Amino acid sequence: MSTSSVASSKPQLWVSRPLPQEPIAPLHQYFDVCSESVERRLSPAELADRLAGCDAAIVGLTEHIGADEIAEAPRLRFIANVATGYDNLDLAALSAKRVGASNTPGVLSESVAEFAWALMLAASRRVCAADRWVRGGHWKQAFGFSDWLGYDLSCRTLGILGLGRIGQAVARRAAAFRMPVIYHNRSRADPALESDCGARYVDMDALLQASDVLLVAIPATPTTHHLLGAQELALMKSTAVLVNVARGGIIDEGALADALKHERMAAAALDVFEGEPAIHPALLELENVILTPHIASATPRTRRAMVAVAVDNVMAFFGLGAHAGRPPNLLNPDVLQND
Ligand code: DGY
Repeated sequence: MSTSSVASSKPQLWVSRPLPQEPIAPLHQYFDVCSESVERRLSPAELADRLAGCDAAIVGLTEHIGADEIAEAPRLRFIANVATGYDNLDLAALSAKRVGASNTPGVLSESVAEFAWALMLAASRRVCAADRWVRGGHWKQAFGFSDWLGYDLSCRTLGILGLGRIGQAVARRAAAFRMPVIYHNRSRADPALESDCGARYVDMDALLQASDVLLVAIPATPTTHHLLGAQELALMKSTAVLVNVARGGIIDEGALADALKHERMAAAALDVFEGEPAIHPALLELENVILTPHIASATPRTRRAMVAVAVDNVMAFFGLGAHAGRPPNLLNPDVLQND
């Protein structure tokens, strides 16, 4: 770890960005903690350099870590990802080197669900475009009766692609809008969960065809890459609104831009993008899409909780704290098996 200074008998822990100090504090007793002082995306070579001398690391979703990044990190034993999604980690490569990895599920579900509702409402009622229009000085005549019409959410069908923790938290709020909820998942949820969420299982085509608002809440995996492409989007209603709070690569952004441009879909709201922070240029041209910079979990309370979960996992992996020896969110438990 190039940034460490004095030799110490404690394990070395590298933190890839400045994080809230309070949840990090318990680590100092057991680890030499070295944190990047500035938040920026590190190059693969910089990542490899930082990981080279450390025993553990706390990283975020912009740190892509695979075989190359850990090739020269003989002491590395654990990586805690401060995110629920872990498509930035090559678990096979980590397991091959017996490096454990964890994520932070659960603590951000409510914040992300609230933000998903913010986007569903804003996209349906054209809030951001109307705001731009007012600021642009275009509002010349008070109360245009037929201006800026949007769509109600009440009594329209909410479709959820992925009834995981976030999908469930979104579904539970739908009763307030009297929206029937349908969902599709790789595997059907158990009946108790379906009834708790008020959600009805349908196949993928039915989800696309029947949703008035479709929320994407599935993880990014090789199987879900561009799961929503031109063909799938063509099944959606021309009045539908599509919202993505999961990962960008799940939707083919070019195909979406084309559908929005030609009004084969009413609107979309995207918090995540395939090449973040780059945005597909065709999306930037459109008024009927809301673009936000991956902020669905961005509240101080949730961000602190995410760090606390990451810290718990590190401690547990090193045999410390309440979960000693049993990291609660271990993604590759094979690393704990004896040969
Ligand atoms: C996650 O946790 O995966 C979110 O996308 C970032 O907060």
